[in-house]
Amino acid sequence: MNNLLCTDSTLEHQLISARNRGLLLIEHIKIRNLIQAGCQTREVQKVIYELAAQVLDSVDHKPRFWHRQILRVGEDTINPYSSQVKNNVIQPGDIVFFDLGTVLNMEVNPVLRIETDLGRSMIVPGPNIDPDKVKICNDCERIFLEGKAYYLQNQDMTGKDLYEYISHLARSNGWQLSSQFHSGHLIGVFPHERILGNTQFDYICLENTKPMSAPDKFGNKRYWILETHLVHPHKLFGAFYEDLLL
Ligand SMILES: [Fe+2]
Ligand SMILES: [Fe+2]
Repeated sequence: MNNLLCTDSTLEHQLISARNRGLLLIEHIKIRNLIQAGCQTREVQKVIYELAAQVLDSVDHKPRFWHRQILRVGEDTINPYSSQVKNNVIQPGDIVFFDLGTVLNMEVNPVLRIETDLGRSMIVPGPNIDPDKVKICNDCERIFLEGKAYYLQNQDMTGKDLYEYISHLARSNGWQLSSQFHSGHLIGVFPHERILGNTQFDYICLENTKPMSAPDKFGNKRYWILETHLVHPHKLFGAFYEDLLL
């Protein structure tokens, strides 16, 4: 049993289901063409917030985020989560990434609110796009998938092992990891940082020498988010991808 009367298999199911609804939000952002040259970051963030209320269908139509909404554009894409989002005007050919950490009420047990965490990158259409931009966006998703496959083959690896693997893949493809100290973290029932803890053992980082398969303090399975945030070694752009390790 989970700490909040939610069996592990139910939590797993709900995490996947919440994640799929989060993906729907991303599809709506794309279909509605919200990321366009000439728009300001702050304007787009506001529209995404309003869209989240409709698409995620929260009980009171008030979208909730467990971490602040990130939408980075152009040179701002090299900055880590801890850096304040800049209110830039989107330019043709810019890399844009968003990072949506939403919280969803689930039908199975409306008392529980389940966290999602999804990051994707895209390139705004424009003339003469730098091929490195296309490559870094593609590599970002591919390195995420390689990291996920590596984790799924050996879930007893430590957070340090997976961080080092992602770092190795980034370097061997010609990129750097962003200055953020980690490449992922726990996810679960909201707010996981308070329920489960917020130490180095709850992150995919060099300091986490515990197996990722180690149970939480209630004896339950832990679930992870993997983040790949690649940065060009000398040009001012990066790309970001994150998703559930399930
Ligand atoms: Fe996130
Ligand atoms: Fe995250």
